[in-house]
Amino acid sequence: MFKNCVFAAVLVAFLASCAGAAEVAEKVEKVEKVEKKGILLVAFGTSMPEATGAIESLVSAAKSAFPDTEVRLAYTSNIIRRKLKKERGIEIPTPPEALARMNDERFSRVYVQPMHVIPGEEYDDLKSVVDAFASMKGKYGFPHIALGQPFLSNESDCELMAGILARHLAGQGKFESNKAVVLMGHGTPHMANAMYSAMQGALSRLSDPAVSGRIFLGTVESTPTFDDVLAALKKTRVKSLVLAPFMIVAGDHANNDLAGADDPESWLSLFKKEGYEVEPYLVGLGQYPEIAKLFVKRIEELVE
Ligand code: CO
Repeated sequence: MFKNCVFAAVLVAFLASCAGAAEVAEKVEKVEKVEKKGILLVAFGTSMPEATGAIESLVSAAKSAFPDTEVRLAYTSNIIRRKLKKERGIEIPTPPEALARMNDERFSRVYVQPMHVIPGEEYDDLKSVVDAFASMKGKYGFPHIALGQPFLSNESDCELMAGILARHLAGQGKFESNKAVVLMGHGTPHMANAMYSAMQGALSRLSDPAVSGRIFLGTVESTPTFDDVLAALKKTRVKSLVLAPFMIVAGDHANNDLAGADDPESWLSLFKKEGYEVEPYLVGLGQYPEIAKLFVKRIEELVE
């Protein structure tokens, strides 16, 4: 009996000292936590191996601009994440997964930068995740977490983007021999869809005669529609078109809905039926060097 009591007392004392050590360790952890910076880049994702280059190009631009900061990537599309895991064994985290891991690895200043074009539903979802982490106090929260802007969030972003598109496409010779460029954006029922009209406005205001009035923007899932673009084209003398995605990645929509040769509903087929000569240019915006620079600028605005 007496022996058991002594054993119990020793055990209690031992456990108490363990708890003490753990507490000290947590305090040390808090001190160590100061200033470990990380950048989390967030893309919708793509399951097409040949299209990932656009995302990789933005990731490597961020890595070379911030060589001393850890740069990570998350995908928002669960369908794409699951497909990648199942078919190719590639695991890419969701934004909350990536952030939870960064918290566990004691990052203290985290900058979340989306690769999204407009602040639509995807951006709202991401914002709610960042807001949730920002509201978490104590050891599971970050001392600092901030969310960057998508490519187009106001009128001046549209002007900037119009200039980039014009320079890039002209540089690729896409307006030669009286051609016009038709861009396909994604489109959404979200009110941020208005950004595409603002973007078309900025494109229409381009003053360089080589590109002025020669870039048209429609969306695959909302307005402006294919018919809107066709109606605008019919007011011109253009007979030859270059079809390009207005999306970060030239993935499924670009290859099928825009340029699918076997799909009678693709824009390529529909324009051909209307008598236009068409040439697809399946390069995602992420692969435009000036877009990569703009992306880095967005992160710089966030980090400063
Ligand atoms: Co889509």
